[in-house]
Amino acid sequence: MEAKRERWSSRALFIFAAIGSAIGLGNVWRFPYLCNEYGGGAFLIPYMVCVVALGIPWLMMEFGMGRYFQKGAPGVFEGIGKKWEWLGWWPSMVAFLIVSYYSVVLAWSLRFVISSVNMEWGVGEAGAEAAGGFFFNDVLRLSSGPGDLGSIVWLTALCLLIVWVVIFFSIWKGAKESGKWHFVFVIVPWILLIAVAIRGFTLPGAAEGLNSYLTPDFSKIWSPDVWFGAASQVAFSLSVGMAGMFAYGSWVKKKADITNSTIIASFGDMATAFLAGFAVFSVVGFLVQGLNINLEDVTTSGLGLAFVTYPAAVSMMPGGNSLVGLLFFLSLFTIGVDSAFFLAQGGVIAPLTDKFGWNIKKTTLGVCIAGFLLGLLYCTQGGLYWLDIVDRSVSFYGLLITGILATVVVGWKFGADKLRLYVNETSDIKVGRWWNWLLKLVVPLAMTFVVIYGGFIQDLSYLWDSTKTEYGGYGGWAAWVWLILFIALLVSIGLNLIKTRKKGDK
Ligand code: PFF
Repeated sequence: MEAKRERWSSRALFIFAAIGSAIGLGNVWRFPYLCNEYGGGAFLIPYMVCVVALGIPWLMMEFGMGRYFQKGAPGVFEGIGKKWEWLGWWPSMVAFLIVSYYSVVLAWSLRFVISSVNMEWGVGEAGAEAAGGFFFNDVLRLSSGPGDLGSIVWLTALCLLIVWVVIFFSIWKGAKESGKWHFVFVIVPWILLIAVAIRGFTLPGAAEGLNSYLTPDFSKIWSPDVWFGAASQVAFSLSVGMAGMFAYGSWVKKKADITNSTIIASFGDMATAFLAGFAVFSVVGFLVQGLNINLEDVTTSGLGLAFVTYPAAVSMMPGGNSLVGLLFFLSLFTIGVDSAFFLAQGGVIAPLTDKFGWNIKKTTLGVCIAGFLLGLLYCTQGGLYWLDIVDRSVSFYGLLITGILATVVVGWKFGADKLRLYVNETSDIKVGRWWNWLLKLVVPLAMTFVVIYGGFIQDLSYLWDSTKTEYGGYGGWAAWVWLILFIALLVSIGLNLIKTRKKGDK
């Protein structure tokens, strides 16, 4: 029989859990890049508009619905109507797929922590030049394409195992016990990023890097690219659309506030991203000056930033290279690991234990083992290509499409106003009726724009424009972007159809 539902032990813990789930690799390797690309400090305006108009209403919806139904995502949608349960499972599948590769990126970060000790890729200009080769040839041993998996890189697999062991021991005792780890995995990366940023400030060239990051160029903010960047980043960064926040909301005490916590978490996430930008761009500025190149010539986002540009800059530093490398990669690991355990715990384990009444420890073990085994795919020599394909499939299309459907079903079927009044009952800040329209129209329409503008138009234009290729230039393999989502949908429908005995737990 299911025991009484678990609870976060304090409000601060819930807020930290939410911030910890939200802050992650995206804060370090995408937000600063978007600022730099889209108008420096001026980008903060569209970003903030998107946080307020899209992120906060959406996150509040997930927390509120989780608390209302006292269940993770599938239980919430089942509560709206049995035929909607799949709509909770679909993002849950998506969450599982995300964590399967997100954990591999964390494994690479760990690998770089180790390699930083003896600056394995070299120091000085030679090291900077060798950094790219080190990542692609030594760490990944990259093959020629997704069809050529080669063999598993065992050092990465070992790091992956460590990552999953950390995840397992953080969450195996359930939400209440895992809460304290969120404190650790929020505060430690903050300290590390501040330390790295301070080192960055003292380097020559830092000021140019920071100028590029922050000097406002207001003319850019009217471009649709900028709004696409801001809206997609807000959704990814706040970890919405990924099932987990419903479960996190379900662990909030019955009388506790939701609105204010949502706002604090959203701005905490943004502040962390802003801080990370200092650690990134001061160091990039230094590299650019040291190598006498232009900022446009180095990669300032994604894996390229973390595992090529940053290591190159670390090589060039006049002293303390190992230490800076160590701190930076440790900050990547610690900032990301609680997003990973959020995906596993809130996105997958809670839905399974809700539905099947399974034991939390055993389910956690099963999910961690499954995540590790699937992760081995990305530890192969062709793994990077698959990581890229799965990422496009789930963390772009999956997150957004399931998010659009969820906000529409909650907004129109369950009723935005009902949810608003329910949340207002216990919240310090009362939201007005305008909120209903944000949830019912603005969020789904904005996300539809994002899917069409940044997704379909990019990935399907090869159908009508012969100068374009399939996603990533992967030829037929790119079809997996769609296949994965489709398979996940079928599994979700299958799970919807499975009947379980009700336990009278409410
Ligand atoms: N928000 C995390 C980041 O910015 O890296 C990534 C993420 C984690 C996205 C969990 C989605 C999610 F459910």
